[in-house]
Amino acid sequence: MRIDILSIFPGMFGGILGESILKIAQEKNKLRVALTNLRDFTTDRHKSVDDRPYGGGPGMVMKPEPLVRAVRAVRAQALAETDAPTGSGRLLLMCPRGRLFSDAYARELALEPWLIVVAGHYEGYDERFVDLLKPERVSIGDYVLTGGELPALVICDAVVRLLPGVLGHEDSAHCESFSPGNEGLLEFPQYTRPAVFEGLAVPEVLVSGNHAKVATWRKEQALLKTRQQRPELLNGK
Ligand code: ADE
Repeated sequence: MRIDILSIFPGMFGGILGESILKIAQEKNKLRVALTNLRDFTTDRHKSVDDRPYGGGPGMVMKPEPLVRAVRAVRAQALAETDAPTGSGRLLLMCPRGRLFSDAYARELALEPWLIVVAGHYEGYDERFVDLLKPERVSIGDYVLTGGELPALVICDAVVRLLPGVLGHEDSAHCESFSPGNEGLLEFPQYTRPAVFEGLAVPEVLVSGNHAKVATWRKEQALLKTRQQRPELLNGK
């Protein structure tokens, strides 16, 4: 998968992309990330990416020109490369007004060969960027962050770990919280050694060696934990 990230703070991404699973995914050639600075697509002396809103009001609005020019340039550049991705890139705009990100949404995006993620700042984007390039607005939750960089990283992380061959154990992304393999429930509790810790023993069934009983216990626990923590996930079950 190729992921292009467009931001005015490309320096915010290096740490997260350079460690752990996201780093390994790039080393295994399962992921190619390209960072683009939106300021490189400004035309004025001050490299302005934002301006005051028409109609007045607080805050600044991201200007349409750098956004449109940057997305067009990223598409042209990627398609000119020898290992050009297929399609024109699914364009995602980080925005608290967007479609709510979820496990199902991540699985949908993981099927794409190429994502272009726009991480904005300030009060919002000039609507003409949306009218012209028709990005998909994506929200990672009902709260407002200072910018789209963290949402962009959240989406990258959640999507990349689903790509075949990225996680060591192919089942790991299948049977966890929210996943179809876990029927959309929360995951069951896990234990590891020691068998007794500060007087608390691991549930008997997990050391019984009886795989059928373990599976039944885990299913019951997944239901119980979901009922306690996230009862709305059980609607219709
Ligand atoms: N930008 C600011 N807040 C956001 C959110 N909750 N989701 C996506 N992008 C954002």
